[in-house]
Amino acid sequence: NYNQFSLPKDFLWGGAVAAHQLEGAWNVGNKGLSIADVMTQGANGVERKITDGIQKGEIYPNHEAIDFYHRYPDDIKLLAEMGFKCFRTSIAWTRIFPLGDEDQPNEEGLQFYDDLFDECLKYGIQPVITLSHFEMPYHLVEAYGGWRSRKMIGFFTKFARVVFQRYVDKVKYWMTFNEINNQANFDARFSLFTNSGILTRKDEDPERLMYQAGHYEAVASALAVQIAHQINSEFQIGAMIAMIPIYPATPKPDDVLKSERAMQSRYWFADVQVNGRYPDWLTAYERNQNLGLDITLADLDVLKAGKVDYLGFSYYMSAVTAAHKDENLDYKYRENQDLVPNTYLESSDWGWPIDPEGLRYAMNWLNDRYHLPQFIVENGLGAVDHLEKDGSVHDQYRISYLRDHIEQMKRAVYYDGVDLIGYTPWGCIDLVSAGTGEMDKRYGLVYVDKDDQGHASLKRYKKDSFYWYAKVIESNGSDL
Ligand code: BG6
Repeated sequence: NYNQFSLPKDFLWGGAVAAHQLEGAWNVGNKGLSIADVMTQGANGVERKITDGIQKGEIYPNHEAIDFYHRYPDDIKLLAEMGFKCFRTSIAWTRIFPLGDEDQPNEEGLQFYDDLFDECLKYGIQPVITLSHFEMPYHLVEAYGGWRSRKMIGFFTKFARVVFQRYVDKVKYWMTFNEINNQANFDARFSLFTNSGILTRKDEDPERLMYQAGHYEAVASALAVQIAHQINSEFQIGAMIAMIPIYPATPKPDDVLKSERAMQSRYWFADVQVNGRYPDWLTAYERNQNLGLDITLADLDVLKAGKVDYLGFSYYMSAVTAAHKDENLDYKYRENQDLVPNTYLESSDWGWPIDPEGLRYAMNWLNDRYHLPQFIVENGLGAVDHLEKDGSVHDQYRISYLRDHIEQMKRAVYYDGVDLIGYTPWGCIDLVSAGTGEMDKRYGLVYVDKDDQGHASLKRYKKDSFYWYAKVIESNGSDL
């Protein structure tokens, strides 16, 4: 029965981070400038600025981050102490191809990840790697306009091929584009820039740009899947989506249709990567909107031949939508206008609704739709922590959040038959927030002594959640 149920023996417990949010060393080892390097520090409710290159007088939190680049041996040791089986990070594209359009990779960058992966493997921790996590070369933005350009497909696949070959024996699980579907919110400057390196000009339609960039990325991803399988047939290549289920505000059929279109608008990226074809609603939508996208027949063949092996996703929250009074017949979804509050849920200090059951719902929805193994590669609570004088951090709120979500995840495996590879909570060590550039929005099980007021000893401390999570892993999820 459920009380005796335990997750599979080889379940991948671990944690997740991204290169630009923790490595720092932004200009060390011939690393090039990435799009994360031109984003300033924001605050709770204050957007980060995207500057035109590096500007004097601005604060760029990713430049130093938590200096993982120089401190990773100690940090990996801490993760090993918790019993991590895997560690999800990304390879900073700009360490391998500083500009993005060179012919030859940068050996120093390649060596850095060799050393980092060896350090992980020494403890039996397998690296799980994202190829593009909000950190593409800034040069590709300046010279080509980012993923506006079909040329990106070549630059990305060259990068993918180099790292697949180099780490052929060190990495098994890969993901192509982190949260590729954030840009479904095409009105948000941040999403189009972090996903696709696109800064929309006044005369451009951001929605069209999003569909075009998303298409080129889907093609690049499908090519990467094929290249990977040629290099090592054991490689597992996943899609990575931000899973935010969008519930209808009421059972009113209009609201239900609206939420259906919202889900379709957010998850077509996964449809294409998993099914190898465009969903019919989107083909119709693009035709009706006269978007005039550059999608060739050869592209459609590439998509078909490059289906992903598993579905990676982040889960932090759910959302709710309602139809407008004069809703369009196409139910066009605009994320920045169409969401309404969920009065049944509490929210984090950053306004993210907390919905553990939504995770179980999401896992069911994804399973019915995609029939693929799933990997929860991000989940967690961004919160303010207090470092006590004795070096402890009592983050019971984080423990509760993680416990509730792990409980729902287990139910989805036991009661609903979901095939789940692993679970890697986000920001297992405190790092720079992607959305706000803050240090004070913390997710970690390990505290890093650095704040947004400029104080930074960069010392590491174990939070209460550190000891709790070690127990969870030790008991393979039984002791929550
Ligand atoms: C996801 C990203 O959006 O959520 C991470 O993949 C990000 O890069 C995480 O850090 C949490 O978001 P935030 O804005 O709180 O850092």
